Amino acid sequence: MNRRTQLNEIYADDVNASLGFDYSHMGYWADQSAADKPGASDPTNVEDPAQFGVAQTAYVRHLSDRLQLSPGDRVLDIGGGQGATAVWLAQNHGVEVVVVDAVPEMLTQANRRVHEAGLDERITCIHQDFLEYDSIQRFDAAIAIESLYHIRDQDQAFRNIKRLLRPGGRFCFSTYVSDMRPRFLRTRYLLLTVGDRDIPQLDRYTHAITAAGLKTERIDNVTRFVLPRSSAVLRSEPYFSRLRDYVSDHYGRIPAALLPYFLNWHDRSVRHDNLCLFFVDGCAPKRGE
Ligand SMILES: C[S@@+](CC[C@H](N)C(=O)[O-])C[C@H]1O[C@@H](n2cnc3c(N)ncnc32)[C@H](O)[C@@H]1O
Repeated sequence: MNRRTQLNEIYADDVNASLGFDYSHMGYWADQSAADKPGASDPTNVEDPAQFGVAQTAYVRHLSDRLQLSPGDRVLDIGGGQGATAVWLAQNHGVEVVVVDAVPEMLTQANRRVHEAGLDERITCIHQDFLEYDSIQRFDAAIAIESLYHIRDQDQAFRNIKRLLRPGGRFCFSTYVSDMRPRFLRTRYLLLTVGDRDIPQLDRYTHAITAAGLKTERIDNVTRFVLPRSSAVLRSEPYFSRLRDYVSDHYGRIPAALLPYFLNWHDRSVRHDNLCLFFVDGCAPKRGE
């Protein structure tokens, strides 16, 4: 099975969309700022899973703050999935967004969401592998949320980001780094969730960024703001039942029955720093630099 087929199998019926989430990434619980949405209660309260959507938006806000966006900027959303990030960026920063995603079903959802938000003029969704994407117009910024670890060739990915950014343009991304043990379980887990046997270590990204002629400015380990509470949400109802049904439909009844043990292993890996999430940002050199 080639990578594209694997990716299509994973995202054709995306687990996040099946659980009812607009975004296909985790939530972020750093402070109370996520509570400013009308009707929101305490977003740090994992007993209230309805807050997950607020925490997912907080994740986008915290990461995209690093892009220092201005109204009218042109933003590239790499592996933009269901398009919710693009809609939020356009509505909250007044930017134009191009979403590039390799899986048609994700783009169908993205196009529907963009249309419903009345943002067809400002958001363009393109079905393409990012490594093959090109554009005549340069971008002011690029964002990649939980998507770069799907790309095997990081050198090529960052060369493309460099080519697509204007001089001084900024990029940011979030990504997992995994050293989960035992190894056979990690391999199985990654094959099911990422479609590959392993994902890059952090230095693969920083090396590729430098090799492409870009600069890394900041790297933050945000694991504790994201993973424990996101996992608690998935353990709570109605999400746990939906997740169990999803696993049963896609992988069978035995994996579904083992789901609680799997979540325990996942949480233990997070506690032992064997599964981490990083926010990284940087920029293209300014003209003459
Ligand atoms: C975990 S989802 C994240 C989606 C979105 N960024 C979000 O946070 O909601 C990863 C996305 O990356 C996309 N993706 C993976 N590899 C890609 C590639 N080579 N080119 C473009 N998109 C890719 C997948 O199709 C999927 O929609």
